[in-house]
Formats: sequence, C-alpha cells, structure tokens
Amino acid sequence: MLTLRQLFLANNAQTTNFPLLLEFERAKGIYMYNSEGKPYIDLISGIGVSNLGHSNPYVINAIKEQVDKYMHLMVYGEYVQSPQVRFAEKLVSILPDSLQSVYFTNSGAEAVEGALKLAKRYTGRANIIACHNSYHGSTHGALSVMGNEEFKQAYRPLLPGVKFIHFNNADDLNLIDEQTACVIIETVQGEAGIRVPDIAYMQALRKKCDETGTLLILDEIQAAFGRTGKLFAFEHFGIVPDILLLAKALGGGMPIGAFISSNAIMSALKENPILGHITTFGGHPVCCAAGLAALEVLLDEKLCKQVATKEALIKASLIHPAIKEIRGKGLMLALELESFDLNKKIIDRCIENGVITDWFLHCSNAMRLAPPLIITPDEIKKACEIILEAVDYYS
Ligand SMILES: Cc1ncc(COP(=O)(O)O)c(C=O)c1O
Repeated sequence: MLTLRQLFLANNAQTTNFPLLLEFERAKGIYMYNSEGKPYIDLISGIGVSNLGHSNPYVINAIKEQVDKYMHLMVYGEYVQSPQVRFAEKLVSILPDSLQSVYFTNSGAEAVEGALKLAKRYTGRANIIACHNSYHGSTHGALSVMGNEEFKQAYRPLLPGVKFIHFNNADDLNLIDEQTACVIIETVQGEAGIRVPDIAYMQALRKKCDETGTLLILDEIQAAFGRTGKLFAFEHFGIVPDILLLAKALGGGMPIGAFISSNAIMSALKENPILGHITTFGGHPVCCAAGLAALEVLLDEKLCKQVATKEALIKASLIHPAIKEIRGKGLMLALELESFDLNKKIIDRCIENGVITDWFLHCSNAMRLAPPLIITPDEIKKACEIILEAVDYYS
C-alpha cells in the first residue's frame, strides 16, 4: 500500500520539485504535531493566517454551530444570510466611517481582482500603479500587479497599463496622474522581506491619490488583524484607504477574503452592467461565522496590545554576528542573513529541531518570523534558542 507521502507526490499537484513533505496529524495553539506526536512551533502562522494559533475552541464552536444551521445557499449578495451580515457589521464597526461596504471573496487574490475591477469601473480609468517587489496573489490580475518579473514572464500577456513604482520612494509618486485608476500597495510589504514604509511617504501617497482622483487600495491581506500591533496596519500611518483588502487571518483558519470601500464606490458594481462582480462561494456562511468568532477573540483577548512587547523580546533574543538585521513591525518580522544558501541551511535545521519557518518570495536571504499572536514569552525564548543554535551551527 502506498504511503500518504507517496500518494501526495503522485496525485496532488506540486508547485516545486522540493516540497517540504512534513506530515502533520493535528495542530493546537502555536504547535503542529506529526504522526509520532513531535511538536513543531509554527513560526509562520500558515503564512499570516493563524493569528489566534490553531484550533481556537471558540472558532471551532462557531463553525460547528453554523454547519448545523446551513452551509451554502446561494451565490454571494442575494440572500440575507446572518453570518455574512453579522461579520460585515462587526468589520464596519471597527473600521473608519468611509469603509462601510464589504464584498466577501474566497481568497486574497480574489479580493485583489475585485478591487482592481472596482477601481477601473468607478474612476472610468484603465491605468494601475503597483510596487516593485509586491505580492498580491497568483491569478492573472494579481500577477499583473506583482513586482517581480521572474514570476510573471512565463505567463504574459498580463493586464496592460500597469506601471511600477519603488516602495517608499517619494519621487516615484509623480507617476500617479489623472489617468491612474488606482495605486495598489501593501501597507507593510510582506514577500519583499517585510518592508515598513515611512509615515511621511504613506501620507504623501494618500495626498497624491486625492489630488489626482486616484483610488488608494491598501493590501493588508498579510498585515491586518494585529499582525503589526494594530488591528489594521494603516493605523500606524494616519491614513485611510479607498479600498481595503483583507484575507488570511480574516477567516480564523477558514478561507475568506474581502474588499471593503465606501457605499458610493462599491455601488459601481451594481449597474452598467449589473452583477459587476460575482462569486458563488465568496462569504461562505461557515467561513463568515469562523471569521466573526476569530475577530471577537482577537478583540476580547486584546491580543494587539501584547504584540509590541513580543516583538521587542524576539529582537532582544536574536542577537548574533551572522544576523544582519531583524526588520518589520510587530510579529511581522524578517531576519536577514548573508545569503539564501545560509538561510536555507538554517531554516532546515530549525525545522529538524522543531521550529517551522521559511523565506520570502522576493527576499530569499531573509527568514520569516511571524508566529501566532498568542505565543507566550517562554515560547518565544524557546523558538529563538533553536534559531540561534542553527545560526551558530553554520557560522
Ligand atoms: C500581501 C498579499 N496579498 C495577497 C495575497 C494573496 O492571497 P491568497 O493566497 O489568499 O490569494 C497574499 C498571499 O500571500 C499576500 O501576502
């Protein structure tokens, strides 16, 4: 009989020739357990998803209760389904007044697609500006605004009219003009290796968009829900986007995304043509129930408030001559090393020793440090000891 690993390699599509091939049986809190019961500390939260850790009982209960009531009923936006209504109401209540209309999708990339279409439709303009080294997802539209040619060239032609600016470079803002429908930008760049922009830059970007009638789309698919120490990362910069993109931690472990704007902007999807954006499963009732429960836990347990202290502890615990820099905000951090080769060896040793981490899509010499927000100081120290041991071993 074939093992699970053999079946995985035979029947499940692969996107590299070197998958991790780790096999987990269950996950709880910050730990994932293999079939022998060996615990691994999850230092990447399933790439920004598990902000509450794994298997939060409140979220699980909300899922079970909703499954017992109903699952899919109708394509998005037709029936009044209480999990969608309650979740949107909660999101709107914690967002600035201008972000009041929530369109739920299934994923981050779909939120990007919806937002790009909405910006074109609302402004009547076709041009889009995005950033070098950005990552917004893997579908055609999202790939068109990805700032890394290596991942795009094989899939051209992509969307026309997309220009790229350098992240955090005020001079490049001059490229935004009256023909620009939108600027799409990560509030904190993730796959670029965690880059935090200056407050002055983000304010100048907001101003330039206002002056030119360009919509500002902030992608917080990785950065929202406490990851940077604020509920939403734009709160660090004193600006509000025209369209906000959410996914990943939005669902508390279930698949869901959203693009959120004012009613005036979102209304553009209703006419000429009607049904400007359609999804069958977007805002699935079970995912909305899970997302609402996860948000309630995040707020009730005041997890955002603990993030800055945990960030400081990680930075203080990871001091070594081979570590060039730890940058980022909150628990969205990158540990920079000399080369990809060194990084990969250290990552492999960390995994062997029970700490899961990885590198970034556009920054292969940096290691991702993004644990669930519930990680305790003792668990941080333990994870950092394992990382330091690996750094030391190869230095
Ligand atoms: C900043 C950002 N935007 C968009 C996406 C795409 O989200 P999804 O994988 O859910 O399509 C990601 C995924 O990593 C992301 O980090």
